[in-house]
Amino acid sequence: MALPSLARIPAPPDPILGLTEAFRSDPRPGRINLSAGVFVDETGKTPVLATVVEAERRILAKGATKLYRPIDGDAAYRAAVQAYVFGEGHELATSATVAVSQTPGGTGGLRVAADFLRQAGASATIWMSEPTWPNHPQLFQLAGFRTRTYPYTDPSGRRIDEDALLAALGEASPGDVVLLHGSCHNPTGVDPSPALWRAIGDLVEERRLLPLVDFAYQGFGDGIREDADWMEGLLRPGAELLVSTSFSKNFALYNERVGALLLVARSAKDASAAQSHVKIAIRANYSNPPSHGADIVSTILGDPELRAAWEVELAGMRARIKDNRARLVEALVERGIPGDWAPIAHQRGMFALLGLAVEQVARLREEHAVYVVGKGRINVAGFTSATFAPFADALAAVLAG
Ligand SMILES: Cc1ncc(COP(=O)(O)O)c(C=O)c1O
Repeated sequence: MALPSLARIPAPPDPILGLTEAFRSDPRPGRINLSAGVFVDETGKTPVLATVVEAERRILAKGATKLYRPIDGDAAYRAAVQAYVFGEGHELATSATVAVSQTPGGTGGLRVAADFLRQAGASATIWMSEPTWPNHPQLFQLAGFRTRTYPYTDPSGRRIDEDALLAALGEASPGDVVLLHGSCHNPTGVDPSPALWRAIGDLVEERRLLPLVDFAYQGFGDGIREDADWMEGLLRPGAELLVSTSFSKNFALYNERVGALLLVARSAKDASAAQSHVKIAIRANYSNPPSHGADIVSTILGDPELRAAWEVELAGMRARIKDNRARLVEALVERGIPGDWAPIAHQRGMFALLGLAVEQVARLREEHAVYVVGKGRINVAGFTSATFAPFADALAAVLAG
């Protein structure tokens, strides 16, 4: 016997990417995929941004080398990401108390964070919202964490249950890691208010917890700085925390696998010591990061004109998502579909929860070729003008029983 016996039993398909695979092999015309978190334009395509094309042209013109990059990535990229995440002018934008590592997407950033924390002897308990992105629990469990959950929304799925959230985190032990979605909470689309961020920050300080901010959607909600309002609540003197960022969505660089892990320490000395452990986590995982996506991001962020043009493209994606939200609510309300739909128009980011039963989600897929995740998480950025009506009709049919 060579392979372990568990390897002979097929694992379930990935709850999100598995659906996209099923969608691709679905022959029915008019099928609608609202499962994976991918932005599509009016033609249903996910275009390469014009600023990305221009950055690639410049990178090619410079002449390439395929030499290994440093373990934690290119210095220009790391500096650009630090300033982007914290915002030019913020004291952390250039501070040596922050250690940045380039990672393969936001997923890579989370996994490096997890390995680093386990290696360095952090608490083995991580708290995450219920619900959360389905990859969170398995990612942290496979890295050796025990996962605990804190409640997030009330039963409507439209408002955060602040008391329940704070009460649950009040049970965390000193040193426990708390995973927080920086903006555009996946799957609910509902983010904490500035006051709730402050209350979370108070609790983190009081109970000496370690926040890990998953910041995969900066700029997709209300704006690059607007989406960073967690900073005011969590970044306080002496605070230590980790941030995982991703450029998959806001630069539409999904398959380039580009992101970063940022570690905020109390001193430059602490940051540098911690980074030496992060580098071991990276070296043991994938050795050093791929370069192309990072070169694109640092070319764009480092050139004022390109950056301004990219911000216009980002604002365009954001506006389209907001418009989609309004059009979706209109289509649902127009058909008199029972439910609390109006708040969906004002939520942040790509996702909204419909609050369906598993059987209803299965019927949407089997009877109407409409693909949604879990209990009805939909990617609002996945609609085109042609799909609102058939989607709303399918939902009305399924909810009618
Ligand atoms: C909440 C959240 N975190 C992290 C990621 C990771 O993104 P990627 O690894 O594609 O950059 C995603 C992607 O869907 C996400 O929704």
